[in-house]
Amino acid sequence: MRHLRLDVVTIFPEYLEPLRHALLGKAIEQGILSVGVHDLRGWATDVHKSVDDTPYGGGPGMVMKPEVWGPALDDVAAGTAPGQELTTSLPHVDKPRHDDLAGVDGGAAESGEDPDLPLLLVPTPAGTPFTQADAQEWAKEEHIVFACGRYEGIDQRVVADAANRYRVREVSIGDYVLIGGEVAVLVIAEAIVRLIPGVLGNRRSHEEDSFSDGLLEGPSYTKPRSWRGLDVPEVLFSGNHAKVDRWRRDQALLRTQAVRPELLDTAVLDAADRKVLGRE
Ligand code: ADE
Repeated sequence: MRHLRLDVVTIFPEYLEPLRHALLGKAIEQGILSVGVHDLRGWATDVHKSVDDTPYGGGPGMVMKPEVWGPALDDVAAGTAPGQELTTSLPHVDKPRHDDLAGVDGGAAESGEDPDLPLLLVPTPAGTPFTQADAQEWAKEEHIVFACGRYEGIDQRVVADAANRYRVREVSIGDYVLIGGEVAVLVIAEAIVRLIPGVLGNRRSHEEDSFSDGLLEGPSYTKPRSWRGLDVPEVLFSGNHAKVDRWRRDQALLRTQAVRPELLDTAVLDAADRKVLGRE
């Protein structure tokens, strides 16, 4: 069975508590996932446990110190970092298993990088945009470490130096600025973990996700058939799977065109699709 180890280094360990709940808690319970959370202040060297300092060149805010981050990332890469092991929040569970680091199927070896190194993800609004394709790729990893920066960021030499022990990616979850990387870690971890085989009950449910085929997903309906004067579209009762699939595809195409038209530039469209979109 595949196993993913996540380690998160942060000055706010309690922010990562949601990783114990719901689907991720279940993955921990099943032995598919294990999560270690490490308080960066454990690597601070002065009496005040300071982790940041004023920026060279002046300007607002503080920059996180390389002498604190460097050893923290060394120890987490080596598996020698002290930290809190997150247990599942599910009530009926005794103990998560975190001892079966199963082999993975390679992962994508990007140019010149050792594919056996752990992946270091550094959330920052200045990073490359995180996408569903990244989540699919990273769901095949066996060890991912997250470095949560706060304030104005981490001294850039930390990222440069970490490339000796990690495959490093600076990633953004969107064009807005959060206070720190913790919430971005929750977002990225959830997107990755739900794609690990065995975590979601229904395999098809992520093959049909929005973005998986480059389109947004269309609307869904459940019982009752009529509610507050609003009826479920008739075609869904036809029992004709081809017709239902075509209708769903049309809805996805039309919603994408209305909400995110730029996605259609890269989606694979056939003649029937183009006709629905009025692009024939
Ligand atoms: N840290 C602060 N803002 C962020 C963003 N948009 N994405 C990732 N990390 C962040």
